[in-house]
Amino acid sequence: MDTDITLSPSGFNHIPVLFAESVDSLEVKEDGVYVDCTAGGGSHSAAILERLKNGRLICIDRDPDAIDNLTARFSGDKRVSVVHDNFFNIKNILQGLGITSVDGVLADLGVSSYQLDTAQRGFSFHNEGPLDMRMSRQGVSAQDVVNNLDLAELSKIISAYGEEKFARQIANAIVKARQSKKIETTLELADIVRNAVPAKARRDSHPARRTFQAIRIYVNGELDGLENAVKDMFECLKIGGRVSVITFHSLEDKAVKQVFSSLSKGCTCPKNFPVCVCGNKPRAMVFKSVSPSDNETQKNPRARSARLRTAQRLL
Ligand SMILES: C[S@@+](CC[C@H](N)C(=O)[O-])C[C@H]1O[C@@H](n2cnc3c(N)ncnc32)[C@H](O)[C@@H]1O
Ligand SMILES: [Zn+2]
Repeated sequence: MDTDITLSPSGFNHIPVLFAESVDSLEVKEDGVYVDCTAGGGSHSAAILERLKNGRLICIDRDPDAIDNLTARFSGDKRVSVVHDNFFNIKNILQGLGITSVDGVLADLGVSSYQLDTAQRGFSFHNEGPLDMRMSRQGVSAQDVVNNLDLAELSKIISAYGEEKFARQIANAIVKARQSKKIETTLELADIVRNAVPAKARRDSHPARRTFQAIRIYVNGELDGLENAVKDMFECLKIGGRVSVITFHSLEDKAVKQVFSSLSKGCTCPKNFPVCVCGNKPRAMVFKSVSPSDNETQKNPRARSARLRTAQRLL
């Protein structure tokens, strides 16, 4: 598939990961109903639309900038409904549109290249900007988090969501720095992190990468409720419909894998029961997970940690 399609006419650009693989995984039907839960720049949506004839596509995003872009990009296409919401509300969103079930749901988790590259949004440790990181532009910002959470909470977040082994040192440095001056910008935080880790940890990737990821995940509540959201995505499918999720973090992948695996097992009887008494049948067929090729990771380092998982509803 030609990835130039990713260049949105409005300049809202995103380099998608596992692009062809994820669109192919949905086996789009010409008259089907599809949901792009994280429509962003609209490249996955555009590829789905190319395969739809009389079908329908619901594009969801929680970022108002993405919504402006999607509205401009797809306005005039009667098959498309653009919805500004958190896809964790997928059941209500579809209900509000009068849709009872769909043929396919796609979620491409995490942040867009646009969000990372727009300094004002405060996601990047490379570009100076306000320490914001809110996809929805509402609620608690990264600045609130680093200036208000206590040492233990900060350390826990950086360790769990950032998988950062120097979490305690970094949290200590943040707490110390904010005693003399409120931490207000991305580069202030990046410097605090860089100075908190041992010199050898500064060699590989940027030392602030994991801390920024952790704070972003916390600010946007990306993992709280993800399992439920994946269950809801599955429940919205017609029999035979498919859900595909692209994850970028091991905890996201674990959540998706767990939900799919329990749907594919069916039986919920305790392991020591000699025979099944619950009678539950497998509700999903789960496909082998897909990782990006070496070629893709070389071209786009953001693809390194990506994983695509797909399940098809059987019951
Ligand atoms: C990795 S980008 C997806 C890009 C998109 N697939 C494309 O082709 O341009 C993730 C997008 O999902 C949005 N997003 C992330 N979590 C979301 C959530 N829980 N609900 C709605 N949108 C979300 C972000 O605002 C961002 O625009
Ligand atoms: Zn059973």
